[in-house]
Amino acid sequence: MNARHQHIIVLCLIIYHVSGQLFNFPPLSSSLPSIAAPGTSLPVARAHRNFIVLNNCTFGLTAYNSKMGQKWLNSGESMAYQVPKEWSGRIWAQRKEDPDIPLYTLAEWTLDAYMGMDFYDVSLVDGFNVPMSIIPTKGKGACLSPSCSEDVTEDCPSDLAYHDDHGRVIACQSACSKFSTDGFCCRNEWNDPLKCKASVYADFFKRKCPTAYSYAYNDNTSTFTCTAADYKIVFCPSN
Ligand SMILES: *[C@@H]1O[C@H](CO)[C@@H](O)[C@H](O)[C@H]1NC(C)=O
Ligand SMILES: *[C@@H]1O[C@H](CO)[C@@H](O)[C@H](O)[C@H]1NC(C)=O
Repeated sequence: MNARHQHIIVLCLIIYHVSGQLFNFPPLSSSLPSIAAPGTSLPVARAHRNFIVLNNCTFGLTAYNSKMGQKWLNSGESMAYQVPKEWSGRIWAQRKEDPDIPLYTLAEWTLDAYMGMDFYDVSLVDGFNVPMSIIPTKGKGACLSPSCSEDVTEDCPSDLAYHDDHGRVIACQSACSKFSTDGFCCRNEWNDPLKCKASVYADFFKRKCPTAYSYAYNDNTSTFTCTAADYKIVFCPSN
């Protein structure tokens, strides 16, 4: 289970029946064919999902999958692979110049998490290094496409800017990864969605990329659902 999705799924159990509008859920009626009419079939859970990762950037990068390893992709190159239906994890890119500290744009999934729905998001909770989008294909339900297609480094607040050896801004750290306080990271006494609100830094990321997580509890505009989908992940998508 992806940590980011865990508390949402717990919340879902409580509130799903109250409101189908939260978290971009499909209407209850279309997602819950609870009594199938004779001759109709319930959606069949698929054993595997197809993922395609495309490097649409003008530069090469290493594409990482938190469970399945890493692969160098030249500009314009893509790779396809399957993940098990219960997969949860992350995909991100590291360029040659990126440091080994986690300040990557992340794509996150918990497949088949709740009532057959996949939960997925694009996250800037650690920071931003490359533009990224998730495009669900062939799924049922809302199946919207979160993305961060802006180059966030261009306007990155100076106290969050991460410079390379030549002084060039190559990434924009989140306030949590930069300052590591409980308040920015929603930890300890701040580990509560009702208490841990967006900071001015989180607001900056949200303005740049409205469908991506800007801080840990930015759930209601940043978590998306789709049932039984395949996924295309694009680094440097069109905006
Ligand atoms: C999301 O939550 C914030 C803060 O809790 C609230 O101000 C905002 O209206 C909510 N947005 C949606 C789309 O529910
Ligand atoms: C790849 O980038 C080019 C140039 O920015 C853009 O026109 C194209 O739509 C992008 N492709 C995808 C799949 O986003």
